[in-house]
Amino acid sequence: MTGVVAGAGGGNKAAGATLRLHHYLVMAGVAAAFVLACLRYAPDPAGYGFLAVAPRPVEADAGARRDTTPPPRPSSSSSSVVIFNFGDSNSDTGGMAAVNGMNINLPEGRTFFRRPTGRLSDGRLVIDFICESLHTPFLSPYLKALGADFSNGVNFAIGGSTATPGGSPFSLDVQLHQWLYFRARSMEMINLGQRPPIDREGFRKAIYTIDIGQNDVSAYMHLPYDQVLAKIPGFVAQIKYTIETLYSHGARKFWIHGTGALGCLPQKLAIPRDADDGDQLDAHGCLKTYNNAAKRFNALLGDACAQLRRRMVDAALVFVDMYAVKYDLVANHTTHGIEKPLMACCGYGGPPYNYNHFKACMSAEMQLCDVGTRFISWDGVHFTEAANAIVAAKVLTGDYSTPRVTIAKLVNSTLPNDD
Ligand SMILES: *[C@@H]1O[C@H](CO)[C@@H](O)[C@H](O)[C@H]1NC(C)=O
Ligand SMILES: *[C@@H]1O[C@H](CO)[C@@H](O)[C@H](O)[C@H]1NC(C)=O
Repeated sequence: MTGVVAGAGGGNKAAGATLRLHHYLVMAGVAAAFVLACLRYAPDPAGYGFLAVAPRPVEADAGARRDTTPPPRPSSSSSSVVIFNFGDSNSDTGGMAAVNGMNINLPEGRTFFRRPTGRLSDGRLVIDFICESLHTPFLSPYLKALGADFSNGVNFAIGGSTATPGGSPFSLDVQLHQWLYFRARSMEMINLGQRPPIDREGFRKAIYTIDIGQNDVSAYMHLPYDQVLAKIPGFVAQIKYTIETLYSHGARKFWIHGTGALGCLPQKLAIPRDADDGDQLDAHGCLKTYNNAAKRFNALLGDACAQLRRRMVDAALVFVDMYAVKYDLVANHTTHGIEKPLMACCGYGGPPYNYNHFKACMSAEMQLCDVGTRFISWDGVHFTEAANAIVAAKVLTGDYSTPRVTIAKLVNSTLPNDD
């Protein structure tokens, strides 16, 4: 691992990649007004579904890693962890790079992988930490042609993706269709006597994780706030529709992330603000309108999850309040050893935000923090490995979940029709 500005070079190729990277980081203006939206939990004791059932003892090879010899059974996935993930760059483990043929360079990946993996971070993402906690390998991107291993699931997430159809090339509807295709092909193989990486049981017992919406909300923040609010139900409806469609094709375990504290991202904070209006920042220096829009999105998504829980009584649907997790990280940053919670590690311009839209991380002029310094923001939009580790640890407690369960318990929980 070389010095502080490793990866800054690379000439035209890197510059080209930078421009294309920008394409995926949705830029938005500042909204004119804000309305306070309260984060509402809708605890739904009646809707806990099968999670009320005590988990049965773990099967012999649950959590078996695929790098060990597979047990001699018709299918190796029938009792291991299977995750199908849908989302944007927050959970993209290399899909965007694969599909666009982008050669993302160091310093992306510098902290953990020590090579670029297509993740927009210096290391692991929250989904990676979740996989580690479940003792299952990192998820392969659906569109990764070489070296993909789908035996523990598939990652459909692509950087820049929106919940809104057509808002991005791989919007949630496209990701859903990719899953439907993957599933149909798997069933076809089974019918032909072949063994796809995930069998029937694998599809049924899998965890379906969704983390999307950040790009949708961001894309409209230049509009007056009431117009932003009017758009949010449409984003949530797309996620709801996706869950319903997955359910109608046999999915039963859902793990849905809300969106984070958008107003605390250096990219948003660096957008020029009207100096006359001194009331745009909250007590922790974050943009109120962005955060209120994020909270509104989460409140509606939480409500949608509660409605679905009542209808899909044989399913478990967990909503995770990512806003609370990520806002706490900013508000209580000193507890986590973070000095500058609103400043990007990799960017341009120095304090307070080290973010410049035209000289972003991966551009030739980027200014990079030292390896080992603790920042929340990696590049102004995406989190560092250090921040993702804290976020994941909080998510894994189950304390931010509705209903209050851990993902490990969800993996281990039995479905009503089992046995
Ligand atoms: C900061 O941490 C304290 C103590 O854990 C907690 O009560 C508080 O809610 C946190 N602040 C935010 C904004 O999450
Ligand atoms: C399932 O539960 C068992 C204990 O009953 C535990 O050892 C195992 O790690 C759990 N599986 C996962 C994926 O967390």
